[in-house]
Amino acid sequence: MRAPSAVSSSSFEAARAEASRASKPKRRADYVRRTRSRSVLCLPMVRQGELVGVLYLESNLAPCVFTSDRVALLQLLASQAAISLDNAALYTDLQRSEHRYRQLFSETPVGLWQTEAQTLVAMLTSLRQHGVQDLSQYIDDHPEWLTSAYEGLVLEDANHYAMQMFGARDGRELLGPLSWVWRANPGTFRRAVTSRYNGEELFQETTKLPTLDGRVIDVLFTVARPRKNDDQGMAVISLVDLTERIRAQDMLQRVQADFAHAARISMLGELAASIAHELKQPLAAINMSGQAVLRWLNRPVPNLDEARATGERIMVDAERAVNIIQRIHGMAARDTPQHTLVSLADLIDEALGFLDHELQLHSVAVTRAYAAGAQHVLADRVQLQQVIVNLTVNAMQAITQAQSARREITIRVDMQDAATLCCAVEDSGPGIAPEHLDSLFESFFTTRESGMGMGLPICRSIIEAHGGRIPADNKSVHGGARFGLTLPMASGIR
Ligand SMILES: Nc1ncnc2c1ncn2[C@@H]1O[C@H](COP(=O)(O)OP(=O)(O)OP(=O)(O)O)[C@@H](O)[C@H]1O
Ligand SMILES: [Mg+2]
Repeated sequence: MRAPSAVSSSSFEAARAEASRASKPKRRADYVRRTRSRSVLCLPMVRQGELVGVLYLESNLAPCVFTSDRVALLQLLASQAAISLDNAALYTDLQRSEHRYRQLFSETPVGLWQTEAQTLVAMLTSLRQHGVQDLSQYIDDHPEWLTSAYEGLVLEDANHYAMQMFGARDGRELLGPLSWVWRANPGTFRRAVTSRYNGEELFQETTKLPTLDGRVIDVLFTVARPRKNDDQGMAVISLVDLTERIRAQDMLQRVQADFAHAARISMLGELAASIAHELKQPLAAINMSGQAVLRWLNRPVPNLDEARATGERIMVDAERAVNIIQRIHGMAARDTPQHTLVSLADLIDEALGFLDHELQLHSVAVTRAYAAGAQHVLADRVQLQQVIVNLTVNAMQAITQAQSARREITIRVDMQDAATLCCAVEDSGPGIAPEHLDSLFESFFTTRESGMGMGLPICRSIIEAHGGRIPADNKSVHGGARFGLTLPMASGIR
């Protein structure tokens, strides 16, 4: 056993004692008495200045048996035994470290190949001796060299995980030259060999490798070459199976593409719904005007002036329909809206002009209350007209549906503050049910039988694109709903 303390050369002398002369502590004297030892010899076993053990001899036959010449011989024996003991300890250490390596090798949850490449190293050395500098170029010129190099790399050992990855039933199936792997993937072999030729200690890439049971797996392929071992060509190759991860990534990409497609489809759906919604009103107006034209013309004395005037209204409504399509298309394609300086009052008047006929038909009176000084906004005229038309049609429908006795709408324009214009559409309908207040602006939310639920979401997206807000409540002066919209004034827009 290795002792912790070092022994100086001066203490190498034999510790010799004769039982008769021994002046030892009581315990040792007892032992000597009991065993009847008549001669005792104790020799330190020293190896390279370190005490590795003690040689203890005793005799109960005669006193003074350990004479000087015997002690000299025993000293020689003791030093030989010290060397043997030391070697045995070193061997045990080696065995332990080998065992640790084997354990790590076999139990690491990553595929490990232990390869031997003496032949390959010899081939590379020969190329170097023939002055080849650029191995990649050499392989381009001599592709057969690469094929013969496959045989030069031999798999000596593979851990359990590697066997599983490559579908081997036992380790021996994998061992030997790896030509079957490199034939399926010459690129990885070529790059790895070139990296060895260039003296790199590490080579790593993500690649695809064949398995014994006919699969192809995605792996992170890493070759670590021990620095001082190059001439023996030993290397450990680690293989991390990425197949599942790459499959999951592919799946994620597919799902994302599907989502993007679904989002486009749903956007197209909303676009179609918006177009249908916004065209309903001008088309209905054109239809009504068309019928009016026919009535004017079918009179016993046709009223050509009225017919002409109504025909002109048809043209205005048709143009508005075309403009609406263009604007909605522009919004979907993210065109920049055409912002011009517009007077909110004029714009509301125009919008109400489109609704004159319907308002009359439903006997709904509209009062306009424009505060002095509440003037211009920088806005897309057609889009803001759509907002006013939608809010007014909603108000009119709420009044008609509830068959309210009072049939009034007030549209007011005020300055909310120095930088903000506020426009409110207030009606005498039944108001908004409190439980619907949070859902009004969601696409396709409607309480009307023939409604699409698109009017308010369109209004909100237009107003928000203009930097404003569109709150709703039941604080109408007429007792019904009030939809307000705020817009930054022209001077407030930078
Ligand atoms: N002035 C109002 N008074 C009471 N409820 C209203 C008023 N305006 C809107 N609403 C409520 O908000 C809902 C959504 O309005 P929105 O304009 O988005 O759709 P819609 O009018 O139902 O259908 P459409 O898409 O044809 O306009 C209406 O169904 C109604 O319940
Ligand atoms: Mg509506």
